[in-house]
Amino acid sequence: MTLTSAYDYDYSPRRGASPEWIDNIVDAILAEATLGEKIAMLSGRGFFQEFVEDGRLWGARPYRAGSGIERLKVPPIYFSDGPRGVARGQSTCFPCTMARGATFDTDLEMRIGAVMGTEMRAQGCDLSGAICINLLRHPAWGRAQETYGEDPHHLGAMGTALGLGIQSQNVMATVKHFALNSMENTRFSVNVSIDERSLHEIYLPHFKICLDAGVATVMSAYNQFNGEYCGQHHGLLTDILRGEWGFSGFVHSDWVMGLYKPYAVSAGLDIENPEPQIWGDKLLTAVEAGHIAPFVIDRACRNILRTQYHFACAPDPRPEYGIDLVANPQHIALAREAAEKSITLLENNGILPLDAKKIGRLAVLGKLADQENTGDRGSSRVRPPYVVTPLAALEEKLGQEAILRGDEDDLEAAAAAANAADAVLIVAGYTAREEGEFIPGDLTLGQDGEGRPSIGGDRTSLSLPPQQIALIHAMAKTGKPVIVTIVAGSAVMVEEWRDQVGAIFQSFYSGMEGGHALADLLFGEISPSGRLPFTVARDAAHYPYFDRDATQVTYDYWHGYGKFARDNSVPRYAFGHGLSYASFSQGGLKLHRTHDAIEVEIQITNNAPIRSDEILFAYISTPGGIERWPYVLKAFTRLSLCAGETRLARLQIKLEDLRYRDPLSHGWRFEHGQYELRLCGTGHVSSATIML
Ligand code: BGC
Repeated sequence: MTLTSAYDYDYSPRRGASPEWIDNIVDAILAEATLGEKIAMLSGRGFFQEFVEDGRLWGARPYRAGSGIERLKVPPIYFSDGPRGVARGQSTCFPCTMARGATFDTDLEMRIGAVMGTEMRAQGCDLSGAICINLLRHPAWGRAQETYGEDPHHLGAMGTALGLGIQSQNVMATVKHFALNSMENTRFSVNVSIDERSLHEIYLPHFKICLDAGVATVMSAYNQFNGEYCGQHHGLLTDILRGEWGFSGFVHSDWVMGLYKPYAVSAGLDIENPEPQIWGDKLLTAVEAGHIAPFVIDRACRNILRTQYHFACAPDPRPEYGIDLVANPQHIALAREAAEKSITLLENNGILPLDAKKIGRLAVLGKLADQENTGDRGSSRVRPPYVVTPLAALEEKLGQEAILRGDEDDLEAAAAAANAADAVLIVAGYTAREEGEFIPGDLTLGQDGEGRPSIGGDRTSLSLPPQQIALIHAMAKTGKPVIVTIVAGSAVMVEEWRDQVGAIFQSFYSGMEGGHALADLLFGEISPSGRLPFTVARDAAHYPYFDRDATQVTYDYWHGYGKFARDNSVPRYAFGHGLSYASFSQGGLKLHRTHDAIEVEIQITNNAPIRSDEILFAYISTPGGIERWPYVLKAFTRLSLCAGETRLARLQIKLEDLRYRDPLSHGWRFEHGQYELRLCGTGHVSSATIML
């Protein structure tokens, strides 16, 4: 450290410094800083004023989330959201998280993370709020699009991939929102009650997976858990996170309404964001009055500094992070790859792929066909340099004169367009109005940026808007081949119209390059390879109950495909469903037990004359002495197969992932007996049993 004046030391991080240097400097900072400086370090600072100065433009600058200590040259931590890209500047806009969940591609997700990390660094940020891994308990959840799906194993694997990708650029990644944040409108108040098994087996495993893999920080949730707010919940933030899981990074609150009492710091929260509303002077008074021990403040500072300096001192993978890296052609190509791999083909009566030589004219119908609709307008909003809509991409592919337009406001005109065309594409679904982060009017965060009072929130319906259904019905009557693509963050019920159309895609919010991907999939330049990361019901009553106004809710063990299987409810589209233009077969399933895992091997063949990706899902059924989901996902893999290629796929299931939580001992137990493994691919299943 350097003495720069009688009282000022330079304790700033140095790239390439050793772990010992970091330990020493952290000790030195704690020895040198005053109590006031330490407490100031535990809060973000300046957000309210800066936000107003920036005309309420979310992401106009990085936000201080942890203020550092200016006198000692401890830098602040600079935060940016969010799940579909960096919520700052004109960053690359990827398909929303749920779409990326449908890729089941951890390698791709890690590359996306590396791009987000790079674009964070290029824009002055070092803490990323991109990993949202709350469980999709019900498809009406407004922020469903920000998470990966309904299955804990899948959430953990995808969140880990994103986090490690982000952190490869020495940006700290945070997993959010810890925990039980699976509904939106009442998120600031709702109290979630839950039993121990459901908590540890269903709602928490994905957080632990990410943290065990090295994701460095945690954002607490707004909601309450068993009667206490998550941002000040000792059981969650200390007993589970630190005690049971051994987490050593830092925990910061969610924005503005994340905690209510100074004692949050004793409960295990390290940073209040984005301003010292509850901490700051009030926390100083509480410490001076002896209500909070000084070592608790030191502990929080140490958690922050050790994590921050670990990343700030690590050698960088590139010499510089220039602004020209943001949304550069390679990053945009990755957004396109993600869209291609995520768009999911739900139905196809043989009309797809379209043959470009036979389609003289294509009717492209629905208002959403030419809307830049990349998802909600809350904290995860990304403002890319451009967005390719389905209409723009199809005009580019077929020529403007080949496209006929129409929408749900004028069914006669739409029918005329359809009648004059060889095929009809209807782009249906939602926008930020119908689903998304709920920004109530009285919480003038202004994240909408367009002066609207409140937007998004939990959905009021699981169906398409009535005018869109009327459009589909009217187009079906023309007798032309009709393809519908659903733009939405999670499941949309299709019962009212499914049997009237020839093909259905779920295209999600597919990012800045989504239009190109959809056009290529329609015309068979690529084979569809997305698979649903959630269950689509035939009857909404088959989902768990959901009340968007509830301030008290009980989460239990049953949702998603586990609940459908237990109840014998046949889904319309099962978790993992997705069609391909190729056909696959599998054979030679082999299981091999090692001391801590089951190794699975199987041959997969692509029988078609086109290249296509296949995804394999390994489900386990446990012996049955302890009630669990009838089958549960424990591994998955994605393979890219050339025409006619056969490849050996390998998956691994860790034995510790097969345990159940014992509420009596508050520990984990292994059930011995016969386990069944089912390996599911597109149109084929193999199974085998093993004694464990
Ligand atoms: C959201 C977080 C987000 C934060 C900062 C909150 O409203 O719940 O997900 O990271 O705002 O934008």
